[in-house]
Amino acid sequence: MISLLFLVFLAPKSSAYIGLYNDLNCTMFNGTSVVYAPEAVNCQNVVSDSYCRVAYPPTSPDIPYPEEGMDYERPLMCYTLDTATPAAIYRDAQATAVATCPRTCGLCCRTSAFMCKNLIYPRIDCNTITRAQCQSPVWRQILAEDCPARCGFCDLNGCIDAVPGCENDPSICHTIGMEQFVNQNCRRTCNRCSVSTQPPCAAGK
Ligand SMILES: *[C@@H]1O[C@H](CO)[C@@H](O)[C@H](O)[C@H]1NC(C)=O
Ligand SMILES: *[C@@H]1O[C@H](CO)[C@@H](O)[C@H](O)[C@H]1NC(C)=O
Repeated sequence: MISLLFLVFLAPKSSAYIGLYNDLNCTMFNGTSVVYAPEAVNCQNVVSDSYCRVAYPPTSPDIPYPEEGMDYERPLMCYTLDTATPAAIYRDAQATAVATCPRTCGLCCRTSAFMCKNLIYPRIDCNTITRAQCQSPVWRQILAEDCPARCGFCDLNGCIDAVPGCENDPSICHTIGMEQFVNQNCRRTCNRCSVSTQPPCAAGK
């Protein structure tokens, strides 16, 4: 009982640590600590990763960048334009971080790709879906339809390529002998999604 009480007291402390400014966006409770949810890091930076490493260096050199299931502090510059500590928080700085380096700042869930609702009655429990499943050809179509906000598929309206990378060479859509492959795997890139499919994000927008 006493140790349980201790945990309750400790929880707010660790959550203050994660965002530095108590930013609980893109986090979850893992049973003992507040940690980054998959949605925190399940996107690409908008600008190059190398730019983001320069613009948003770790607050101290020994702190890794945000990772799923971890409680590393976000880079200070995701929240401020000041280098002095304690630094003032600027809303513009956060908005800029989301618009440029959401992955580096662990703020993917604030981008438009995550701004919709999962189905109310999904075929699978969206909260258990991992980043690996979001990339898996076996899962992607179901996840685009049922759990778009978990995987960052909100901009796709349920129409997704089963395998990443089709868009790198759209000419495959018209390559003789590839029809069956693209119908199965490159439905978005090759415009093969049935128009009658109900977009899962419509209700959330
Ligand atoms: C998420 O970020 C927004 C914008 O900075 C902020 O207003 C809000 O309080 C944050 N939400 C949580 C749960 O920390
Ligand atoms: C929760 O996350 C913290 C920080 O990463 C870790 O130390 C702890 O072992 C995790 N707890 C569980 C139950 O996974």
